[in-house]
Amino acid sequence: MKPLARRTDALAQSDIRAITKMVNAVQGINLGQGICDLPTPEPIKAGARQAIADNHSIYTNYAGIRRLRAAILEKTRSYNKIPAANDEEVMVSVGSTGAFVAAIFALLEPDDEVILFEPFYGYHRNLLDIVGVDLKYVSTQPPDWAIDFDALERAITPKTKALVITTPNNPTGKVWTRADLEQLLALMQKHDLFAITDEIYEYMLYDGHEHVSLASLPGAYERTITLSGFSKTYNMTGWRLGYAVAPPPVIEKMGLLNDLFYICAPAPLQYGVAEAFEMAETYFTEMMDAYNAKRQLMCETLERIGFDVAWPQGAYYVLASFEPLAHTRPGFDDAATASRTLVQQAGVATVPGHSFFQEPERGRYFLRFCYAKEMPVLEQACRQLVEAYG
Ligand SMILES: Cc1ncc(COP(=O)(O)O)c(C=O)c1O
Repeated sequence: MKPLARRTDALAQSDIRAITKMVNAVQGINLGQGICDLPTPEPIKAGARQAIADNHSIYTNYAGIRRLRAAILEKTRSYNKIPAANDEEVMVSVGSTGAFVAAIFALLEPDDEVILFEPFYGYHRNLLDIVGVDLKYVSTQPPDWAIDFDALERAITPKTKALVITTPNNPTGKVWTRADLEQLLALMQKHDLFAITDEIYEYMLYDGHEHVSLASLPGAYERTITLSGFSKTYNMTGWRLGYAVAPPPVIEKMGLLNDLFYICAPAPLQYGVAEAFEMAETYFTEMMDAYNAKRQLMCETLERIGFDVAWPQGAYYVLASFEPLAHTRPGFDDAATASRTLVQQAGVATVPGHSFFQEPERGRYFLRFCYAKEMPVLEQACRQLVEAYG
């Protein structure tokens, strides 16, 4: 038989799914996968039920229903301070991932160079690989995962076309500061680069960290594609609804691609999620307070059992180092082993650090814990960790 497409060669089942299988087999607690088991807010569910009853069952505009785009535009202008002019600059897609795919197909040719910050979110790396771009990695280091702008400038060549940033970050929890973004923009302008920014965790911030959108900086919007979505903020990863905001020439091509790839995002669910914008502002503060308590419990537990913990500034993950344990306990030689050990000895699943690094060795001593869990479940997981290693 003839071979399958070469672009699929490097694709393998992600570590996350493999570990999920393992922890399910022992009926343990999954702190690996970035899914949130909290309920979707009632008004959103009621809106979708009503839309189904009302027969909103046909294709929508490829960029999404007008009501939803108008609401996203308003939020983008007020919360993100992005100077999008009208709802033609908003495109609803099948998750922010759908919008990311449209963005990279609209922007990038095979052999263009793209800069990714490491540790990275695996879907970004793998999707960019599929397009065939040449990836350049710029490392960030704990405890604060600061950006090394000299290293960044050294990574830029005449073939560099774009950078991808994620703020707040998965897996590190780093929140890019305004000063970081200003420095980034100066380099983008100097070297004529685009940016794709993934801001899916934009409402999850700790210790007074502020979410700043790159596209809100003067001169940035024209070269920036901003991605966000509903999966994380409203606990609805399976609804597959996200969006992009970008200037006209870019968003127009992205819309055509969105049409080609997906035709549109699920119609009744678009009506449902439009209700999110009618919810009280207190929704965000209550969510933040809840995540803050979970972050504290997770990080304190990990410190108590001997991890080195860089407390996240945003999002709902902690990428913690078990290097101290590697020298004192069996089963902690590297991330894959440690992740299996934790499932076997504590019944807790995590993601091995090498999944987030180009050179697996750099992720050798890291595990990622996701604390987007109901509090009693997280408390139970922490009890199990303390019982096993406390
Ligand atoms: C950084 C980042 N971007 C995007 C996604 C997926 O978002 P969506 O459900 O909107 O496709 C995730 C999910 O884990 C993520 O961590």
